[in-house]
Amino acid sequence: MTEKSNHPLNVNGEPRAFFGRRSGKRLHKGQDRLFHEKLPALEIALGDGSLDLDALFPGRTRRAIEIGYGGGEHLARVAGEAPETGFIGCEVFSGGIAKLLEAIDDRQLDNVRVFTDDALKLLVKLPDASLDAAFLLYPDPWPKLRHHKRRFVSATTLGELARVLKPGAIFRFATDIEDYADWTLAHILREPKFRFAPVAPGAWHQPYPGWQPTRYEEKARREGRMLSFYFEFESLAQS
Ligand SMILES: C[S@@+](CC[C@H](N)C(=O)[O-])C[C@H]1O[C@@H](n2cnc3c(N)ncnc32)[C@H](O)[C@@H]1O
Repeated sequence: MTEKSNHPLNVNGEPRAFFGRRSGKRLHKGQDRLFHEKLPALEIALGDGSLDLDALFPGRTRRAIEIGYGGGEHLARVAGEAPETGFIGCEVFSGGIAKLLEAIDDRQLDNVRVFTDDALKLLVKLPDASLDAAFLLYPDPWPKLRHHKRRFVSATTLGELARVLKPGAIFRFATDIEDYADWTLAHILREPKFRFAPVAPGAWHQPYPGWQPTRYEEKARREGRMLSFYFEFESLAQS
């Protein structure tokens, strides 16, 4: 892992970038069944060495990650659209994991694997230049100043993303919180392995091609936050 950090990492020797809730309402019966029947075959277990992506996704050389997929609407959609790509979904909240399992089951997706703990723990185990895309959509905003250090975007997490993305790979970050958009751009500018080249000022308010709002985006709209930032960063070759 990179040394530079403004992040409360390495708590008790463990990388840490998750500060939210792990469970909420009880899962309903069908979700509970999927947890027991489906999750064991799909769940990624970390060992001592780096993660073997060839073993995880036999025959698939394109790979992508979504961090904090929530209810999994975006992940299930893009996985369905790109069956030749292997997708790693990272989410800790049990209700969200259950929803993704339902979508995987309904759509018979065979190219998604799930990690049910802090995404940073998985990122540090990924080989260099091993992913074609990364998605961080509406991450927890942590609006209070004293909680900013809990935001997923940090020098450390961006350093890890820069390391694991292939040259030319994309990293998409979306938020409805202007302060988090500014925070992310400030961090990206300090990470030389990412390029931000919007076609025009303000182009970042246009959703990505084929975009459909996530559950959190719909909530933001209902609460009157009408404008989002849809950033796309390109990973550059390692120098
Ligand atoms: C605000 S929600 C957004 C969910 C979804 N992306 C959407 O747009 O609807 C953020 C999600 O990220 C998850 N999360 C936060 N930090 C995480 C981490 N370090 N690793 C994995 N998941 C994380 C939370 O559990 C939560 O479900």
